[in-house]
Amino acid sequence: MAVCALLAAVAGGSATAQPPATPQAAAVKVCSGCHTMQIVMDTPKDIDAWHDTVQSMLDRGAQATPEELELIMQFLFENVSTVDVNHADTEVLMTVLQAPHSAVDAIVERRRSRPFKDLADLETTVPGLDRALLESKKRMIFFQ
Ligand code: HEC
Repeated sequence: MAVCALLAAVAGGSATAQPPATPQAAAVKVCSGCHTMQIVMDTPKDIDAWHDTVQSMLDRGAQATPEELELIMQFLFENVSTVDVNHADTEVLMTVLQAPHSAVDAIVERRRSRPFKDLADLETTVPGLDRALLESKKRMIFFQ
């Protein structure tokens, strides 16, 4: 039993280093090794493009455990990902807009008959959205 526990600890890579506790900590640890975090925060893209970017950073030599990669993807998804309000699936709407289920349902219902024009249209039509958050993320929110 003791041997198994030891092997598990070694295999997990956590015998010496503490794994980063939050998505942001993981991103800062891994993604500011070669350049600043600014370059990451300055280039919002959709989640598929982030997968490609992170893969290309790994190809360039970025080092991360699978747990760190998962946290990094979560950080990128929640903070630096774009959304097309008129076409995104519900998971993207929930995550990028940090919207409750009821608001996401209202978005999907409304865009079926009439696509949203802009942020003001979204905010005045759909209750339950965090306006301060939308304002801070407006460069990532599109209406195509
Ligand atoms: C081993 C070094 C290294 C690490 C670690 C690294 N990068 Fe990079 N990154 C680079 C280099 C070199 C460039 C500039 C080359 C270019 O423009 O593609 C770059 C450019 C970028 C760019 C701008 C170009 C683009 O594709 O949009 C983004 C965004 C980026 N990195 C994100 C990340 C993220 C996210 C992480 C953490 C998972 C990360 N990087 C970790 C080396 C690294």
